[in-house]
Amino acid sequence: MSTGSVVHAADVEVLHWWTSGGEAAALNVLKEDLASQDIGWVDMPVAGGGGEAAMTTLRARVTAGDPPTAVQMLGFDIQDWAEQGTLGNLNDVAEAEGWADVVPEALQAFSKYDGNWIAAPVNVHSTNWVWANKAILDELGIEQPTTWDEFVAALQTVQDSGKVALGHGGQAWQDATIFDGVVITAGGPEFYKQAFIDLDIDALGSETMVEAFNRMDTLRGFVDDNFSGRDWNLASAMVINGEAAFQLMGDWAKGEFLNAGKVPGEDFLCFRMPGTEGSVTFNSDQFAMFDVSDDDAKAAQAAMAASIMSPTFQSAFNVVKGSVPARTDVPDTDFDDCGKKGMVELAEAAEAGTLMGSMAHGHANRAAVKNAIYDVVTAHFNGEYDAETAAEELANAVEGAM
Ligand code: GAL
Repeated sequence: MSTGSVVHAADVEVLHWWTSGGEAAALNVLKEDLASQDIGWVDMPVAGGGGEAAMTTLRARVTAGDPPTAVQMLGFDIQDWAEQGTLGNLNDVAEAEGWADVVPEALQAFSKYDGNWIAAPVNVHSTNWVWANKAILDELGIEQPTTWDEFVAALQTVQDSGKVALGHGGQAWQDATIFDGVVITAGGPEFYKQAFIDLDIDALGSETMVEAFNRMDTLRGFVDDNFSGRDWNLASAMVINGEAAFQLMGDWAKGEFLNAGKVPGEDFLCFRMPGTEGSVTFNSDQFAMFDVSDDDAKAAQAAMAASIMSPTFQSAFNVVKGSVPARTDVPDTDFDDCGKKGMVELAEAAEAGTLMGSMAHGHANRAAVKNAIYDVVTAHFNGEYDAETAAEELANAVEGAM
């Protein structure tokens, strides 16, 4: 089989949404790993952070009876596709490689369906991070904030200096990504679970949720006038080039800083959204393999799954991507300070029961509920509702989508 000029034993056609500089750099680690095993890569990129456009494209491909070999997928979406009987089973490679011993239960809940392995987890990302430009903080004498109020004061100091306080991209998934953490700052991890995992309607419409929306209003006051529709990696670029001081985004943002040659602790800081310390809202990128009849394609899928789950690959890929390994037995040797901190905090949160699936990235509830939450959060962030109305709308929208 040939991809362009190179002829390989087999190819994998991979649908994904990793199109930013940092994402593409990480993906190259996978492409090269497969090429070294004589497996060709047929690229099927669908731009759009968070993956919504990619999932729309996937549905069209599957409906047309032409599913790709492998697909980047998140959380409950994997379960939805498995329920439709479209995914192949990876039990042979999973058993041969002992995945069950090294993949945390929290991830297995999404990698397996009906007891069968249907996806290979490549990483664990988390969403409740702050990325800060160190030079701006030093210039303005701002210490790393450790409470919500300190964070708001820091944002105000930056804004008063004439710089953009919060670099943000006005897209529903990005607003929702911030909301993951803001809900924890307002009510703590137990409230997050009540609202987004248990879908407790009273919690969703409560005074605590009103407070969460009040805090989104506060953040809204610190973005620049051109935020609407901006891609997430362009907001990262504002912090990288010193136009903005802070970005609230998942640790895929770190991939952009590294791709720009920036060094953690020297050029930028990474810390949990103040008020969420001790909690981790996670999402894991997984590659789900569609059920294919061709033996070569099946063999290529198994080889890709084995590659993704190899300890050396899990280190090499995540060092570049900004996430941490899905496997629990990968040493942190090659990771920078942010990566090391991410690995420790993930293990501690898992231990403490404060490791929770990200609502914004499909690890807390099904797509219908996630999208209903997106609609209310972004409508509020764009001024359509006040905080009280937003909490009311949220409870109604979730109830309607359940
Ligand atoms: C997330 C995905 C990450 C990341 C981000 C921005 O949903 O899990 O890997 O790249 O979207 O595109």
